[in-house]
Amino acid sequence: MHCLARRLFSNVPESTVYGGPKPQNPNQRVTLNSLRQKHLAGEPITMVTAYDYPSAVQVDTAGIDICLVGDSAAMVVHGYDTTLPITLDEMLSHCRAVARGATRSLLVGDLPFGSYESSSAQAVDTAVRVLKEGNMDAIKLEGAAPSRIGAARAIVEAGIAVIGHVGLTPQAISVLGGFRPQGKTINSAVKVVETALALQEVGCFSVVLECVPAPVAAAATAALQIPTIGIGAGPYCSGQVLVYHDLLGMLQHPHHAKVTPKFCKQYGHVGEAINKALSEYKQEVQDKVFPGVSHTPYKISEGDVDGFMNELQKMGLSEAASAAATASKGMGGRE
Ligand code: KIV
Repeated sequence: MHCLARRLFSNVPESTVYGGPKPQNPNQRVTLNSLRQKHLAGEPITMVTAYDYPSAVQVDTAGIDICLVGDSAAMVVHGYDTTLPITLDEMLSHCRAVARGATRSLLVGDLPFGSYESSSAQAVDTAVRVLKEGNMDAIKLEGAAPSRIGAARAIVEAGIAVIGHVGLTPQAISVLGGFRPQGKTINSAVKVVETALALQEVGCFSVVLECVPAPVAAAATAALQIPTIGIGAGPYCSGQVLVYHDLLGMLQHPHHAKVTPKFCKQYGHVGEAINKALSEYKQEVQDKVFPGVSHTPYKISEGDVDGFMNELQKMGLSEAASAAATASKGMGGRE
C-alpha cells in the first residue's frame, strides 16, 4: 500500500484494508509491522529475555517473536539483588552478543537505571547508543514518572521504537518499597491503566505489564490499541514475556536463585541438568576416565614419538621420555 494511504488508513484495522492479516513466514525477521499484524489477528506475541550469544541463538531458534535484552541481566547474570547496578556499557555488551546470536526475533534493549531519567537529551543519547552500538531494533524503558514518559516521547520522536513497562517496575523499588505487585487498590489499578495509556499516547508500540492482577491487565489490554505483554499479569494480555533463566529453571532456589517469581512456570530444569553434567565431569576427571582415547584427537607419528623421546633423553629428561612412551601406548599405540 502507498505510504500516504497507509497513513490515512492508520486507524483502520489492517484486516479492513488488506482483507485480513497475511500469514507469517516463520523464517522472516520479526518487525513492528509483523507484530502489529499478529496483534490484529489476535495471535499472542511471545517475548523472552536473552543476555548472550547462546541464549540469543536458543530464543531465536525457538521462534520467539521478541528477544529482550533485559536489565534483569543484573540479577540473573551478574548476581546482584536488584536491577539497579547494571551499567549502560554492561548492557551494550549483552546487546551486542545477543545481536550476534539472533537473526529473526525483534531485538529490544532495556535502558538501565540512571541512563535516561535526567533529561530527554540523555534518554535519546542512550537509546541511540543501544541501537548503534548494541545493534538492537528497539528499546524498552520503565515508565510511570512523568520524566520517564517524557523520555519515551523524546526517543520515539528521535525515530526509535519504544516498548513501555508499567506495574511493578523493578528500577523503582526505591519508591515502591521493594518488588511489590501493583494495581491491587483502585487508585493503583487506575494508575496502571493511565500510565499505559500515556505510554501509548507518546508513541510506544507495546507496553509490558508486570505483576498486576488479571482484571487490571485485562482492562489495560482492552483500553490500548497497542499490544500488552504480560509478566505475572495473567492471561488477558496480547502476549507474554518471561526471563530466560526463570523459564528454564536455570538457577535452583534456594541455593542460587535470589528470587523465584511466583508467577513463573518452569518449562525446564536446566539447572539440574547442568549440575548433573558438571558433577559427572568432576567424577570422571577424578576417576581418570576423562579424557579417554575418543576425546584425545591430536596424534604424533610413531617416528616422531621416537625422535621426541631421543631429544628428551639428550636433555636429561628420561622420566619425561618414558611418560611420552607410556602415553603413546595408552592412546592405543602410535599412528
Ligand atoms: O529486565 C527484564 O527482564 C524485564 C522483563 C521482566 C520484562 O524487564
